[in-house]
Amino acid sequence: MKYNFDKIIDRADTNSVKYDLRSAVFGNPDVLPMWVADMDFETPDFVREAVIRRAEHPIYGYHFKDTPYFKAIQGWLQRRHQWTVPTEWMSFVPGVVCGFNIAVLAFTEKGDEIIIQSPVYPPFHHAVTEHGRKLVYNRLKIGAKGYEMDFELLEQQAKTAKMLILCNPHNPVGRCWTREELQHLSEICLRNDVLVISDENHCDLVLPGYKHTPYATLSPAAADHCIGFHAASKTFNLAGLATSTAIVPNKVLREAYVHEVEALEAHLGNIFGKVATQTAMEKGDEWLGQLLDYVQGNVDYVSDFLATHLPKVKFFKPQATYMMWLDFNGYGLPEEELWRKMTQEAQLGFNRGSDFGQDGSGYFRINLACPRSTVEEAMRRVKTVWS
Ligand SMILES: Cc1ncc(COP(=O)(O)O)c(C=O)c1O
Repeated sequence: MKYNFDKIIDRADTNSVKYDLRSAVFGNPDVLPMWVADMDFETPDFVREAVIRRAEHPIYGYHFKDTPYFKAIQGWLQRRHQWTVPTEWMSFVPGVVCGFNIAVLAFTEKGDEIIIQSPVYPPFHHAVTEHGRKLVYNRLKIGAKGYEMDFELLEQQAKTAKMLILCNPHNPVGRCWTREELQHLSEICLRNDVLVISDENHCDLVLPGYKHTPYATLSPAAADHCIGFHAASKTFNLAGLATSTAIVPNKVLREAYVHEVEALEAHLGNIFGKVATQTAMEKGDEWLGQLLDYVQGNVDYVSDFLATHLPKVKFFKPQATYMMWLDFNGYGLPEEELWRKMTQEAQLGFNRGSDFGQDGSGYFRINLACPRSTVEEAMRRVKTVWS
């Protein structure tokens, strides 16, 4: 490998949420932090060099996103996902979460029903409840092959809902939805006039053997009735630079969406996010290929370890994302006790399952975007306390 993902980087005292908020979140400053969805790998050298070059210019004034910036995103989506996206469909938004919140404001009214598929990333829940919309849970089901969508229930729910926020691929369960699954979802949503917001933040992190389907590529009708969100932030570890992209094929929706973004003055962003995103998308293919192989190695390590040493822990091997969703319900303990043992005895900082919805109770989400030695240490600690 050309890039070194084994390197340990000390992130303490860098205002890192994952590291520097451990006491506040886990009541223990010494947990091995494997929670927040950023990576412990360094951002690629060519991205850092571009940011440093820009930082050396002594003025950090207002900037705009130019044609090469949007062309870099266009080229990336074409190469990685075989998706041709006209640059006029794209617009800047500081974060994917900010973006889908703005879509909620732009396209729904207070009291409107919005569907999410739990267990799912906590801000999906908040985007609905914080704006006085009504949360409708289309809970995922666990079938023979892992998590699946409940289309029968969705048929009922779509009759009265205005919007569905889709996690594509899905965090935390790690599903890379197939084209057939997404097609089924889109048919239901189109038939019932439900606008689909597709959060595709993890779409570049599809593990070997799987293929991401951008929602807007399902059909012209699906494209016409959706808003997608993309970013280089998960892929290249740039979340602190707050730079993402909304992709809205339908002109009427696009104008309404961009109007809302501009009304909130959320369209400017920071110069370093622009430089980093553009550079990553122009030059990052080889680095990403190696990253994905490394993450797959971590996933395989944890899967083998748990299957061998901890048969009570059920796990779902991710098809995408660097997250793994672990089911500790086999221990028959209340969630508070699972949490205490994990944070205080094992000294592990994983995400608490119920933060992703009631159906996540008894689960933990573990972040595997870290050096193998960290993963090995985590498994040692898990085994000591749980076997
Ligand atoms: C599915 C999903 N969407 C959005 C985000 C956050 O994106 P942003 O930082 O661009 O708001 C995350 C971060 O974990 C995520 O997992």
